[in-house]
Amino acid sequence: MAHQVAVIGGDGIGPEVVAEALKVVAAAGVELATTDFELGGARYLRDGTVLPDEVLDELRAFDAILLGAVGTPEVPPGVIERGLLLKMRFALDQYVNQRPFTEPAKGIDMVVIRENTEGTYAGEGGFLRHGTPHEVATQGSVNTRMGVERCVRYAFDLAQQRRGHLTLVHKTNVLTYAGDLWQRTFDEVAAEFPDVETAYNHVDAACIYFVQDPGRYDVIVTDNLFGDILTDLGGAVSGGIGLASSGNLNPDRTSPSMFEPVHGSAPDIAGQKKANPLAAILSAALMLDLLDEGAAADRIRTACAAVAAQLDPSGASDGPRPTTTPEIGDAVADLL
Ligand code: NAD
Ligand code: IPM
Ligand code: MN
Repeated sequence: MAHQVAVIGGDGIGPEVVAEALKVVAAAGVELATTDFELGGARYLRDGTVLPDEVLDELRAFDAILLGAVGTPEVPPGVIERGLLLKMRFALDQYVNQRPFTEPAKGIDMVVIRENTEGTYAGEGGFLRHGTPHEVATQGSVNTRMGVERCVRYAFDLAQQRRGHLTLVHKTNVLTYAGDLWQRTFDEVAAEFPDVETAYNHVDAACIYFVQDPGRYDVIVTDNLFGDILTDLGGAVSGGIGLASSGNLNPDRTSPSMFEPVHGSAPDIAGQKKANPLAAILSAALMLDLLDEGAAADRIRTACAAVAAQLDPSGASDGPRPTTTPEIGDAVADLL
């Protein structure tokens, strides 16, 4: 039976790259029964709604959700991002954000496991004396033992299935409460995985190693905000943000997982067929892994790697290079 997939194209380049992802999945021979949801900036500007609870409940019935990107300059920052993306991640308890990065030429083969339901993303905030010279803005961070532990345990499990190395990234030298909870939890769970070698990096130093020595990493586990920032950097050092894929996972399968590129709606290039759809295509491959279509997912990854090599201006590839968004999608589909 066809997999039931909810599709949210979203804003900017989102619908452009999702169309290519669906084209490629079809070319790989996987049948999806898709339902489009019109969510994002256009809907909000039309009727003021972002993600009504009834729509959220409809989404719960699907096997997976595929999303392009959301957010547009016409809507104040946070309205769509929090009201749609974070609402789904939180309500569907997608507590792991898995973001893989590979770049063979640089020896990069790593996965960032970003905690996806807590941290500063979930903290209370507020203003005191708003708009006065003595204004104070606060934005807290939530770190629960249960939330940290389930994410850390997932990361150990993954490291055990890969090369057996896990790095905790945090800022324990300054964030002495949250950092302490993360470090203690990490150390306690480590005792259950004696065959996984562990390391710790402060997040600022991790930025250096991402650029200068990324080959040192296998799996990284980190909090929500550090994971957000590090994964744009991860994309930038491994072929560009146009290649970076992600899965917002509910490992307990109590509700659907959501798959989306790491990048945003890129208003600067929207509507110009300039967006690289490989990140969305690779996100769809992660979705196929979850839908037990791993063989098709692997074929898609192989085809994407070949097309990424064609796109690399410094690469040895000769012959015509695909340039527009649909040409890149076609090039991947043609290899399947
Ligand atoms: P962005 O990722 O949209 O763009 C950053 C830069 O990367 C831009 O120069 C853009 O042109 C480029 N870029 C991004 N994706 C690309 C692709 N596939 N191919 C080629 N170039 C690409 O980040 P931003 O500009 O900070 O944010 C724009 C909007 O997107 C904001 O509203 C933001 O909140 C939102 N956003 C959404 C998501 C999401 O839906 N998951 C993620 C990040 C940002
Ligand atoms: C991402 C994005 C989101 C995040 C925003 C749009 C809420 O940057 O998926 O990386 O910060 O998680
Ligand atoms: Mn981000």
